[in-house]
Amino acid sequence: MRRGFKNPYGPNLAFWAVFLAITVLLLSGALWVLSFVRGTVVSAAEDEITLNQAYINYSTSGDYVATSSLTAVQAYIAEFPEPQNVQVLTGMTTSEIWSFMTTYVAGGMKVDCTYCHNVANFAADGAEIGDDVVAARKDNARQHLQMVADLNQNWLTQLADIEGKQPSGAQIICATCHLAEPLPVAWPENLHALPDEYRLPLDDLDVLLVTGNLDVSLDAVQYNQHTMYHMSESLGVGCTHCHNSRYFPDWEQPAKYYALTMLQMSQYIRENYQDSMNGQEPSCFLCHRNQVRPPGAVQAEVFLPDVLTSSYAP
Ligand code: HEC
Ligand code: HEC
Ligand code: HEC
Ligand code: HEC
Repeated sequence: MRRGFKNPYGPNLAFWAVFLAITVLLLSGALWVLSFVRGTVVSAAEDEITLNQAYINYSTSGDYVATSSLTAVQAYIAEFPEPQNVQVLTGMTTSEIWSFMTTYVAGGMKVDCTYCHNVANFAADGAEIGDDVVAARKDNARQHLQMVADLNQNWLTQLADIEGKQPSGAQIICATCHLAEPLPVAWPENLHALPDEYRLPLDDLDVLLVTGNLDVSLDAVQYNQHTMYHMSESLGVGCTHCHNSRYFPDWEQPAKYYALTMLQMSQYIRENYQDSMNGQEPSCFLCHRNQVRPPGAVQAEVFLPDVLTSSYAP
């Protein structure tokens, strides 16, 4: 090419074409990143708004409490600043009970107050309520209030004795099992690829100890496997969350002691509260829902009435 020759289109045009192409590419890339970031930030913010900070991974939003119930309880509080008929939630004002009912009872099951109350009289029990089904639910709810206190005070407290891991201080409450359902299912179908009739071996936890036992039956080995799959899946963890994979019988990991305590707690629940759970046997899934920290548990004691918490001493 001769010196001084300038192609009026060639190099220039090529330059601008390439420049334009790169600009468009960078710009659309930047716009994509921007919209991606904005989208993520916005959806994260929305999650934060809907999650209730008192709970682990649980939202109490929704309009399950009827306006008529709200009006009724305001009138009830004005008339009775002190509650008339509480057996578990002692030491609270009616207004404090209302707030607890809203966030943790109605909010844990996502039901209106009328699920358990005749709102003309929140203190009424049994026949006074005028509807057997509603009365039975209030009665059942009171037993589950007692169960929550019992589990927090007599079972979660045992976790503090386990070496190598401090409990987080999370507390069991209605949503820990109910998770926005009035009728939670402990053993849903398709929970895991296991036989339907399979349940935790709560009659005798020792059947789980199979290693090095030459007399051990095939049944026991299968039971162990079902249980271990159930625990892994319910918590969303692999075997090594609790085990030294080179030697399963070891007790090196604190999570294994946690799991044993939880197995014993499940035995206790079955023994004492199975009737109030419509005959259902507890499972790890009932609380854990494929998560290590059960969603719908309360983050810390401060959020709950003293009488329900681990540190309460009557
Ligand atoms: C799942 C059942 C259930 C639901 C839903 C429920 N409650 Fe309750 N409520 C109870 C039980 C059980 C008691 C008694 C607690 C005790 O004995 O310690 C109670 C007690 C009360 C009391 C105290 C009454 C007294 O004077 O003795 C008030 C007030 C109350 N509830 C208001 C409400 C309001 C308002 C709602 C709706 C936002 C509501 N409850 C939803 C079960 C329920
Ligand atoms: C009634 C509810 C409930 C049931 C049922 C339950 N858990 Fe838990 N589990 C909890 C709560 C609440 C915690 C949180 C304790 C803490 O953070 O201090 C927990 C914590 C644990 C941990 C510690 C998690 C970690 O950080 O490593 C393990 C392991 C565990 N559970 C295993 C089990 C197994 C196995 C079963 C079934 C045999 C089971 N759980 C059944 C409520 C339950
Ligand atoms: C350990 C798990 C667990 C905890 C914690 C728990 N529940 Fe339940 N609850 C169940 C199961 C399981 C059922 C049986 C559901 C069915 O009928 O199939 C049930 C049933 C009920 C029923 C009867 C519902 C009906 O319509 O027949 C009421 C009311 C109730 N629970 C209230 C509560 C309240 C209020 C709390 C908190 C104070 C609570 N529960 C805590 C597991 C639990
Ligand atoms: C959440 C904790 C946890 C998880 C996850 C878990 N295990 Fe276990 N495993 C235990 C506990 C607790 C025992 C002892 C039960 C007892 O003492 O009754 C046990 C016992 C065993 C035993 C019997 C050991 C002996 O002493 O004979 C074997 C084998 C075993 N698990 C294998 C597995 C396998 C394989 C997996 C993964 C699929 C798994 N485990 C997942 C907690 C867990």
